[in-house]
Amino acid sequence: MRRGRTPELIVGLDVGTTKICAIVAAPRLRGGVDVVGVGAAPSRGLRRGVVVNIDSTVEAIRQAVAEAEQMAGVEVSAVYVGVAGGHIRSVNSRGVVAVSGKDREVSQADVDRAVDAARAINISQDREIIHVLPQTFMVDDADGVREPLGMSGVRLEVEVHVVTAAVTSVQNVIRSVNRAGLTVQDVVLEPIASAEAVLYPDEKELGVVVIDIGGGTTDLALLRDGAVWHTAILPLGGDHVSNDVAVGLRTPMADAEALKKRYGCALTALVPAEETVDVPSVGGRKPRQLSRQVLSEIIQPRVEEIFTLVARELSRAGFQDAATAGVVVTGGSSIMQGVPELAEAVFDQPVRRGVPGAVGGLANVVKSPMYATAVGLALYGARRQGPTSAWTDTTSGTLGRWGRRLVGWLGEVL
Ligand SMILES: Nc1ncnc2c1ncn2[C@@H]1O[C@H](COP(=O)(O)OP(=O)(O)OP(=O)(O)O)[C@@H](O)[C@H]1O
Ligand SMILES: [Mg+2]
Repeated sequence: MRRGRTPELIVGLDVGTTKICAIVAAPRLRGGVDVVGVGAAPSRGLRRGVVVNIDSTVEAIRQAVAEAEQMAGVEVSAVYVGVAGGHIRSVNSRGVVAVSGKDREVSQADVDRAVDAARAINISQDREIIHVLPQTFMVDDADGVREPLGMSGVRLEVEVHVVTAAVTSVQNVIRSVNRAGLTVQDVVLEPIASAEAVLYPDEKELGVVVIDIGGGTTDLALLRDGAVWHTAILPLGGDHVSNDVAVGLRTPMADAEALKKRYGCALTALVPAEETVDVPSVGGRKPRQLSRQVLSEIIQPRVEEIFTLVARELSRAGFQDAATAGVVVTGGSSIMQGVPELAEAVFDQPVRRGVPGAVGGLANVVKSPMYATAVGLALYGARRQGPTSAWTDTTSGTLGRWGRRLVGWLGEVL
């Protein structure tokens, strides 16, 4: 059934290791989006965030999108799709140019040239740049400039966060989307999308780490002064926790997953000693009763390992003390009891669980950490929609069309 195409709607498509999720959203006048359709399907074609089976991925994308279309009562044709996986790399880079505009006033052309200079990093043939995110500008001696347009100077410098990915991995995501009958409007790094969905503006200013723990990967992004300073994907997630439970309790994988979701706790100290759980056995043996603390003792070391790796990644990149506003955990695995508490112990910082905000419409349907990436993709798309959408005008001040390209903490120049 073909229904009217609604071009101004935005679709976020999260191709995750556990589930594929599509969100159809309408941009709101003052920023944010109204969710009008949600669809999800179990994902079987990915391993650790990377597409390894196109056919099953295409099938799950079709299902998720059809469900979201049905709910929204529209037909969609283009999506903002997320990418993740161990092939992702990120670096900070800088570019310097002489201001060439008349009267030495910084023009958009100068900004573009500076960003071009900054993105000229050495990458091998099999990799491509997927993001170039400006962090801060310097005009002559004035540093920390967010909006250089119109300033006077002879020298313009920009610092950017550059994210690169393996061409084949990105191609496999795009191919899956295309084969499901959709075009890709943009490819977005998943933790950048999650950050869009769950962070408050003041956190992004002060410095915050968002950690999205999914099934196959843990994605992180560090934001500060309204910009992205570090991103990374660790090939470890909730599936590893379930696997540990299956092995540790000698129970089938599906039961381990169910036990984890229902009774799991990431911090053993939070589990009362007298609580027990029934554990199904393998090989037709009778179910056993076990202390819930034993279950937690299996889970805690794995979740602790994940947070320790995140902490190590941040200090390796030199950002161990950058998150003044603390840590936000999100993704399906953050739903488990004790996850924020354990993270607080590892990072020695305040930690909260992040659920998608800045959304209206069917907001309740997506108010779960599981939907952070998908909602974030829609929010990212709304922000990128550019001159055609009315609400971007309200954030662009007097800078007009050109200025708009640089406004906002994700004001990306490509
Ligand atoms: N209530 C719960 N308690 C504990 N874990 C949960 C709960 N609900 C979901 N999970 C876990 O969350 C994980 C899936 O999270 P999510 O949906 O964010 O992953 P994904 O986006 O598909 O995967 P990835 O981001 O790694 O590609 C699974 O490991 C699942 O077991
Ligand atoms: Mg995910």
